[in-house]
Amino acid sequence: MFKYLTRSVRLTSRALTHYNYASSSSSSGSGKNSTGGQLVAVTKAMEGWSQKLQDAGVSDTEFNLKCIVSHVLKRKFNTVPDNFSQLHFDQKQLADFERFLEARCARMPLQHIIGEWDFLDITLKTAPTVFIPRPETEEFVRLVIENYKNVKHVNMLEVGCGSGAMSLSILHALPRVEATAIERSKAATVLAAENAKLLGLQDRFQVHNHTMEEDQYMPEPLKDKKYDLIISNPPYVKTEEFQFLHPEVVVYENLNALDGGSDGLRVARLVFDLACRHLHSGGKLWLELGNEHPPLVKTIMHLKYEGRLNFVGSYYDQYKRERFVQIEKV
Ligand SMILES: C[S@@+](CC[C@H](N)C(=O)[O-])C[C@H]1O[C@@H](n2cnc3c(N)ncnc32)[C@H](O)[C@@H]1O
Repeated sequence: MFKYLTRSVRLTSRALTHYNYASSSSSSGSGKNSTGGQLVAVTKAMEGWSQKLQDAGVSDTEFNLKCIVSHVLKRKFNTVPDNFSQLHFDQKQLADFERFLEARCARMPLQHIIGEWDFLDITLKTAPTVFIPRPETEEFVRLVIENYKNVKHVNMLEVGCGSGAMSLSILHALPRVEATAIERSKAATVLAAENAKLLGLQDRFQVHNHTMEEDQYMPEPLKDKKYDLIISNPPYVKTEEFQFLHPEVVVYENLNALDGGSDGLRVARLVFDLACRHLHSGGKLWLELGNEHPPLVKTIMHLKYEGRLNFVGSYYDQYKRERFVQIEKV
């Protein structure tokens, strides 16, 4: 129906290629490791789990199992054979494997179990309650990068940066961009700053823990700042649609990251007002929204923002859903 229902636990094969550690598993069939501990064949440890995952409602169980085996063995996903032959767990790994699978049966997202995730060309740490970046957002970011790749200098603001996925992948791709973000969740603010540091992007990224509200759009130090570009993937799920969300989302995501109010545009409307105040003339606002929203946004621009903001255009995601909009400050 919409992205949170269908894409909540999708992984790409590239997503796991960063597990570039030496294998800590034995590849012999000896049954004991070098310190004399008992080894268990991975194929044996896996018995029954595929069914348990299915019973818990997890789809793509083989993929989930392989992700967790790779994670436990600290091996690249692509180096783990599909039949798991010759692989063994020591007792600690076996306990971890079972713990992670119990968590997956309780519908904890793989991203939280594994603790990090790839987004375009960067790897981000994940943290409980912080929004997990979605594959469609990669498409949105690609669009923005394409539009700004030849621009000399860009001063960008992101509203609601979560883990930092959008800003940090743009900074990684475009060395002439500087980014400031505001984010209402303390945990997300800390995580985005940490991800910036891990990626060596901290000199071009600052994040402020601030909740954008009417008449308090920006934190005090940014009150007079203007930007060339504002991006946001605001919460846009209609409140009535929460009943359709997967447990991975309802139980493990922060609902402040999702709830867009009755029409899904409650936070987006605040972003429009913020853009009026904080974009340079000719500056752009790019938004990722739900597939019903772009025509609505076009109407809102005509009715409420004429002479201040112009609707430039909308763009489709890979599922042919109209999802992304570009708006210009007059
Ligand atoms: C859908 S998530 C997007 C996160 C990130 N940009 C991404 O694409 O992965 C929306 C984010 O906006 C934040 N947020 C929601 N309302 C906000 C507000 N009024 N002011 C600042 N941040 C807000 C949420 O905490 C959440 O991190």
